[in-house]
Amino acid sequence: MKVLLTGAAGQLGQALIASRLPGLELIACRRAELDLANPEACRAAVQALRPDWVLNAGAYTAVDSAESEPELAEAVNAGAPRAFAEALAETGGRLLQVSTDFVFNGAQGTPYRPEQAVDPLGVYGATKAAGERAALELPGARVLRTSWVYGPVGKNFCLTMLRLHGLKAAEGEPLRVVADQVGCPTSTRSLAAACWRALSGEGPRILHWSDAGAASWYDFAVAIGELGVTAGRLERMAAVRPITSGDYPTPAQRPGYSLLECTASRLTLGLEPLHWRAALAEVLAAVPLGSG
Ligand SMILES: NC(=O)c1ccc[n+]([C@@H]2O[C@H](COP(=O)([O-])OP(=O)(O)OC[C@H]3O[C@@H](n4cnc5c(N)ncnc54)[C@H](OP(=O)(O)O)[C@@H]3O)[C@@H](O)[C@H]2O)c1
Repeated sequence: MKVLLTGAAGQLGQALIASRLPGLELIACRRAELDLANPEACRAAVQALRPDWVLNAGAYTAVDSAESEPELAEAVNAGAPRAFAEALAETGGRLLQVSTDFVFNGAQGTPYRPEQAVDPLGVYGATKAAGERAALELPGARVLRTSWVYGPVGKNFCLTMLRLHGLKAAEGEPLRVVADQVGCPTSTRSLAAACWRALSGEGPRILHWSDAGAASWYDFAVAIGELGVTAGRLERMAAVRPITSGDYPTPAQRPGYSLLECTASRLTLGLEPLHWRAALAEVLAAVPLGSG
């Protein structure tokens, strides 16, 4: 099987490369090799390489910056999957489009099922929702939604909090973290396994994958401090104070409750989830020493 991977330098991309299946021909593209904002380049890559699957892990992921750069976010998050779907329709290949819990508005208070209607709050979510629709124009496409992605490398909440715990503990200052947004942290390791499984077999076209359980950003920050100390990645943790979203205004509005209902998808993918705290312990053990 030949797979064209986008976003190879991203946190998910790196986890996918590290967990590639034996015997798989993986063509991993970074931004310099394939600009996702250029639909012609996306079409040309498919026509030249004729992959069995495009695994589109690349995305414009800066949720707040997307509010002031909507055209670029739209080009990358919707234009690229549209171009891939169009070209793959000609070559006979398939598309796995990675998407997000931010396609939902967060108002329902119970986990979102894959077949539910989307209603994004911000530009990032809207462009990712448009990317899902464009991908699904291709009969062989699948969409895999996930949430709160983090891993031992790259730019993510876990590594930022690890650094801030170290700084604030040294200053004797507390960390203030939003406690009224609830979701589920998902490690790049488990997400990569779910992506690889999604490339085999049939079943639902929209899948949900996150680690198990639920957390607020506050809960996640506390656990990063506690388990960071246990893993030897932090000398000591800072005190963590819960705040509201109103205390921490951001350009983009975020869903208050964006848990994904994953039960059916877990069966489809044949994967057992880890509780997010256990997954966090694994990630922290893999963080290069000195990152805290
Ligand atoms: N991060 C999350 O919390 C989260 C939550 C839910 C869903 N997701 C989805 O999960 C997937 C993987 O995200 P991630 O966390 O791995 O994000 P990431 O670490 O930000 O990686 C995204 C990658 O996309 C690349 N990219 C951005 N614009 C590009 C362009 N114009 N041309 C080519 N490449 C471009 C980036 O390249 P550079 O390295 O050059 O910047 C980066 O390597 C995305 O579809 C995202 O929407 C993420």
